[in-house]
Amino acid sequence: MIVAIDGPAGAGKGTLARRLAAAFNLAYLDTGALYRAVGVAVLDAGGNPADPAAAESAARNLGLDLLDSPRLRTEAAGDAASQVAAVPGVRAALLEFQRQFAHHPPSPCVGAVLDGRDIGTVVCPEARLKLFVTASAEERARRRTLELRGKGIAAIQDRVLADMLARDERDRDRKVAPLAPANDAVVLDTTDMDADMVFDRAAALVRNAATPA
Ligand code: CDP
Repeated sequence: MIVAIDGPAGAGKGTLARRLAAAFNLAYLDTGALYRAVGVAVLDAGGNPADPAAAESAARNLGLDLLDSPRLRTEAAGDAASQVAAVPGVRAALLEFQRQFAHHPPSPCVGAVLDGRDIGTVVCPEARLKLFVTASAEERARRRTLELRGKGIAAIQDRVLADMLARDERDRDRKVAPLAPANDAVVLDTTDMDADMVFDRAAALVRNAATPA
């Protein structure tokens, strides 16, 4: 059972993916963390995330220890992530790891849930269930601001909104694996839904997808 969750920044993909993973015994991979880690690695080395050679080299030499770092959650890391994510060599370097995780989740998990931008379109087009989770930009900025403040990171909502819109535009307009719903994705607009409602709706879809036709 592979569940693919895609959508723009701050839509609640991570929260949903974690809850589905716990409820259905699935392994969870936050693929955004991979791109964030590459972006932070380039910045740490004094490089420019928009420089394709620096970005690809960081992706090929990515240390998995960085993946748990709280530094990945800042908007600066998100911004660097969306720059390295437009580099084809970076995406190619991270692809196999994501596919391996999806198809060989650590035991005793019975499947995997991955969230990102291109899971349903590129990484796992064969996923049993594809969700495209979205919400209005204002609502997404509100949620992200609360999330950042909850982690002790100072955040101004207007600034978060501006950063998010710039990042969404870059993610949608890039040539390789742009942010887009797969043709067979179920679109969940969560603007007026709380986390429990989103989970209940998605859980019903997972149960349905798990039932042999
Ligand atoms: O948490 P949020 O939705 O804000 O971002 P994220 O999922 O951590 O992803 C950070 C950035 O990584 C995105 O803005 C994309 O540019 C990039 N990304 C991607 O290109 N493909 C993925 N599968 C996941 C993330």
